Amino acid sequence: MLENALQYSHTLLKEVVHADDIVIDATMGNGHDTKFLAELVGLNGTVYSFDIQKLALMNTTELLNQNNLTDRVKLIQDSHANIDHYVTETITGAIFNLGYLPGGDKTEITHASSTLTAIESCLELLKSNGRVILVCYYGHPGGKDELAQVQQFTSNLDQHQYQVLEYQFTNQIHHPPILIAIEKR
Ligand SMILES: C[S@@+](CC[C@H](N)C(=O)[O-])C[C@H]1O[C@@H](n2cnc3c(N)ncnc32)[C@H](O)[C@@H]1O
Repeated sequence: MLENALQYSHTLLKEVVHADDIVIDATMGNGHDTKFLAELVGLNGTVYSFDIQKLALMNTTELLNQNNLTDRVKLIQDSHANIDHYVTETITGAIFNLGYLPGGDKTEITHASSTLTAIESCLELLKSNGRVILVCYYGHPGGKDELAQVQQFTSNLDQHQYQVLEYQFTNQIHHPPILIAIEKR
């Protein structure tokens, strides 16, 4: 069966993120991607995870505690627009899940302006062959505008520096998420 965008996001990260690596979860939410990345980088790696909502940090802390993964994760309650204030090392991967916190306030959504700043920061930090993965939910109010701006930005990245892939089911109702993968050459 074909993988959905979420499953494929993990497949694409697994191929490039290894033990001891430094990576970013730009939209921590309930911590599922943070947990996945924490397992990939192992004891001596680092995951920097960002969210603006306290609830996200609380839920992620609980998930990491349950799985003994807190030691390698830095949880940061700040906008991903400020990634460059916290991360200076080279990264091998980053993930964004654009939209709202599942089970939380549906009006607290990601917005194009900060999302694009964060993507640019991740691309600056990304090592050669590393990947920035965007899983774009866009069925909620404001989602289509953010998606359009993200697609405009990513599709105009210089092909000599980056490969950009879009992955989506085209015959499904209810706006299934669209995956955009950026790989640095
Ligand atoms: C779709 S959810 C992420 C889901 C998450 N990956 C998971 O595994 O549960 C999007 C998250 O982005 C967060 N968010 C919104 N604006 C943000 C910003 N400027 N910086 C960081 N996180 C932000 C929201 O609070 C929300 O938790």
